[in-house]
Amino acid sequence: MAFLFNSDAERAKIFKAAFARELPGLPFITDAESIDPDAIKYLITWTAPADLDRYRNLEILFSIGAGVDQFSLSALPEKVKLVRMVEDGITRMMQEYVTLGVLAIHRDLPGYIEQQRAQKWAARPVRQASDRRVGVLGLGNLGLAVLERLCPFGFPLRGWSRSPRSIEGVTCYHGADQLPEFLAGTDILVCLLPLTPETQGILNADLFAALPPGAGLVHAGRGPQLDAAALIRALDDGHLCGAILDVTDPEPLPAGHPLWHHPRIILTPHVASVTQPETAANAVIANIRRHESGLEPIGLVDRSRGY
Ligand code: NAP
Ligand code: GLV
Repeated sequence: MAFLFNSDAERAKIFKAAFARELPGLPFITDAESIDPDAIKYLITWTAPADLDRYRNLEILFSIGAGVDQFSLSALPEKVKLVRMVEDGITRMMQEYVTLGVLAIHRDLPGYIEQQRAQKWAARPVRQASDRRVGVLGLGNLGLAVLERLCPFGFPLRGWSRSPRSIEGVTCYHGADQLPEFLAGTDILVCLLPLTPETQGILNADLFAALPPGAGLVHAGRGPQLDAAALIRALDDGHLCGAILDVTDPEPLPAGHPLWHHPRIILTPHVASVTQPETAANAVIANIRRHESGLEPIGLVDRSRGY
């Protein structure tokens, strides 16, 4: 049985070395045509190949990223486990990005960038961190890690998830019923939700209206969660103060799209967090070991929830 790697050559080199060291008995394949498809037990990829059905003995499909919305869950054979990427490199990068975004909003970087363009030298109003409530949508691997990293700054922290959670130092809310209360006490909103039918379009006019005046947004989930026109309206009418966006719909964002030019938006091209091959290889190897000893892999996707 073998492991099929379907991603770029640079990452393949690093994965291959780790597999040779840690799982020398498991052939590491990068050329799908070079092997009998029946020999493939594990596959890692960003999207499912069109001919996935030929891997009749596939047991685990590993996503090379944390998100799994790029897979059509209903098209995957029922017996194949889908596993999202949970690895230290992705987590660390997301902690950095969200910290950067939260501090940028907290210290009004969009306002200072605007002033710099106008050659205006002037201090803008400042608030203490203890007076700025940060709320995180999504309390999974990344949401939790981000909250942990934000804690020392002294922001009052809150989080929202699907199921009830209890996290030291974080006021937790869950479910649609508690969303308005969560939003009403959130000055900087961070979105780290997976894209599912329930979260598509969740960052919309109603949600922005439920935030306190002057709130800001850091969006590092998925582009289709955001109604860009509603965001622009909320920024233009002054209800929101700024937004840091890492994801858009579509990606790449086409030339001339209003998100490119809005003075209150800072945009990055889906780079908040990227799978780091050294740490990701270790995570996948650990998951193969878990699977081989009868344990569930870490990051196993629950198809009924879609994440
Ligand atoms: P995860 O561990 O699966 O956590 C997902 C969290 O979202 C859970 O807390 C879950 O609630 C909550 N959630 C899901 N659906 C919900 C709903 N309908 N209502 C309320 N809460 C809901 O995922 P993760 O590893 O933290 O990653 C989160 C997402 O970040 C990924 O899916 C991906 O889209 C995005 N991401 C972006 C980048 C980037 O570079 N921009 C990089 C990596 C990941 P429960 O706790 O109740 O299950
Ligand atoms: C990136 O967006 C990922 O899902 O890892």
